[in-house]
Amino acid sequence: MSELISVSKDLRFALGNERISYLFQVSAEGLLEHLHFGGAIGVADDYPAGPQRVARGAVSEFAGVKNYNLSDTPQEYPTFARSEQRHPALHVVNAAGNTTNTLRYLSHTIVPQKPELKGLPAARGGHSETLLVTLSDQLSELRVVLSYTVYQQHDVIARSAEVFNDGDATISLQHALSSCLDLPADDYELLHLRGSWAREFNVERLPVPGGRFVIDSACGLSSNHHNPFMAIMQRGASETHGWVMGTALMYSGNFSISVERGEFDSVRISAGINPFNFTWQLSAGESFVCPEALHVFSEQGLEGMSQIWHGFIREQISPTQFKDVARPSYLNSWEANYFEVDEQRVLELADQAVDLGLELLVIDDGWFQGRNDDSGSLGDWVADSEKFPRGIDAVASDVKAKGLKFGLWFEPEMVSQNSDLYRAHPEWVLGVPDRQPSLGRNQLMLDLCRADVCDYLYQRLDSFLSSGQIDYIKWDMNRSMTEIGSAVLPAERQRETAHRYMLGLYALLDRLTSKYPNVLFENCASGGNRFDLGMLRFMAQGWPSDMSEPVGRLAVINGASHLFPPSVMASYIGPTPSHQNGRPSSLHMRRDVGFFCAARGVSLNAVDLRCDAEQLQAAVALYNATAADVVHGHFRRLLYRDNEVCWQLSSRDGERVYIGYFQILAAPNLPQKRVYPRALVATANYRLVDSGAPSRKSIFSGAALMKMGLDLRQVEQSNSTPGGDFRSWFVTLNRL
Ligand code: DGJ
Repeated sequence: MSELISVSKDLRFALGNERISYLFQVSAEGLLEHLHFGGAIGVADDYPAGPQRVARGAVSEFAGVKNYNLSDTPQEYPTFARSEQRHPALHVVNAAGNTTNTLRYLSHTIVPQKPELKGLPAARGGHSETLLVTLSDQLSELRVVLSYTVYQQHDVIARSAEVFNDGDATISLQHALSSCLDLPADDYELLHLRGSWAREFNVERLPVPGGRFVIDSACGLSSNHHNPFMAIMQRGASETHGWVMGTALMYSGNFSISVERGEFDSVRISAGINPFNFTWQLSAGESFVCPEALHVFSEQGLEGMSQIWHGFIREQISPTQFKDVARPSYLNSWEANYFEVDEQRVLELADQAVDLGLELLVIDDGWFQGRNDDSGSLGDWVADSEKFPRGIDAVASDVKAKGLKFGLWFEPEMVSQNSDLYRAHPEWVLGVPDRQPSLGRNQLMLDLCRADVCDYLYQRLDSFLSSGQIDYIKWDMNRSMTEIGSAVLPAERQRETAHRYMLGLYALLDRLTSKYPNVLFENCASGGNRFDLGMLRFMAQGWPSDMSEPVGRLAVINGASHLFPPSVMASYIGPTPSHQNGRPSSLHMRRDVGFFCAARGVSLNAVDLRCDAEQLQAAVALYNATAADVVHGHFRRLLYRDNEVCWQLSSRDGERVYIGYFQILAAPNLPQKRVYPRALVATANYRLVDSGAPSRKSIFSGAALMKMGLDLRQVEQSNSTPGGDFRSWFVTLNRL
């Protein structure tokens, strides 16, 4: 007996839990028509709204059925033509050479275990049920299985599709999307996250325009240009009010999420692999699996949506062995020493890390043979014999003997031309015949479509990991794809390269993380150039941006938090003035901004570490004491304005609530402002502990804090840096 999915005799499908419903039906003609995605409405014999057959003048009718115009009909997995003129979910050149295909309902089944997606990362099932609906076009000998998973605890529908070629001839997929969601005509707004290097995750919000608005990537990684995430919401929805629907794709390569408002104002959200520069030759008897698309729905505004994403990512996507584990505080060598790392410096840093109370020492870039700058040396992965004459294992063992964990940086997907690897295997790089490959950060990309390349990388990493000395790996990736082609693919399959690369990468990550489940992997791609749910399925945390200056990082974390929970984000206290934008900042501000990420650390050189030792010790003590609260914590954006930001993080049990208020530029004669904490227990009392005025300990009720708000004037008196720009105020509310 199914709890979460019900199917009526006349083939109406109702998926949902106590808070959301997803409904669709099979039309008399066998097409899958969408009925509703939104607040829970339970199962009924009939519904007050749904697709109508409307006479539309010049518009065509589907297969001669009177007034059945597919461009005016919400559908689950539309194909093009046959009166559908919007962007379809599936577009196939069939064996006859045309692209006219119609998918009709064939059968369905409900399974209690969420099936795995072959070769692709997918959310875990947990308490969920999955509906598999088979559609087919008998004329084209094309079959599609649509998968819908609905969860008891999470207001999420996970969708994907598998396309089968049941014919005898190869067919060509022009595009095969993961999901299509057709919403009724209304006024909607959209929100997405865009940026570039060191300024990732900027929020852009706009009314859904007429036409098709697309965010996508064609550079071989999900990219920092647009994150594979979009929210569509009721016009005017705020942080806490109005309904919001979020879509995210669990994919790290070329993606596309589009919203199309067509001639009748209905809105279509499509998500999947980017159709641009993609085709897939599907041989007879083969199938193609689309990545997983996730859709969430909240009636509690953007914060409600983010809370759903955060819980879902933590519980169903993050590697299980890390999802509840407090992250170690760390010292990373990058902004401390850049490429100038050697045994002596590392061991000195390790001593300082111990004195400061840090728990993990990470050697970033620069440790391998000949790597003195970013002009070469990638690919061989052998320790530099001058910098580390005893090798990495010996240093790791010394670091660990001091009581620290040990971490190491790799950029496995890359190769430099001046490497033994490239000299031995120039054919192992991505590229196209007779064209000079474009370099990115002076390097080329290995062709992960190739099994021999993936095996080589597995062996190289395994040779380090098998010593058991490595607790953490930072997996970096610092360029995008150009001249996208593979020497192992025939001409007609060249446009499969980018997706085959992703399949190779995911298989490699799966092999490594399965063999070394206790190694903490951190995902990085020049910061947030591949910060997506696909990578986070294998890696418990990621480095969302190279922007370590706190004002710049406020925007990054604030934007990223729409989708990503603190548990998957890393942040460190970097140098001042900032190496990214030259801005000076107090250690107080750097500490407080970093607080809201679960993986917190420091990247400062030996001199700076000594200079600020006392304050750093206090910062690390705070980080260590609160690490468990942050990894499970409920994060909220209380304020995000031009000049001020306020965040709240509550421990899972609600016993401790941390509030950080950030004022960017100083101004005289400020208004008396308040901030309103959320989700406290109205009847409980909370003791306010002010990090800037430790002697001041006041007790307030939850109701007073939420309804009256908390005075922000303290920021003037409490900041350890007197006056000036870039100030933070950090308080804790301890429930009594
Ligand atoms: C880019 C990363 O984002 C940085 O943190 C650092 O690891 C460098 N690469 C090293 O080359």
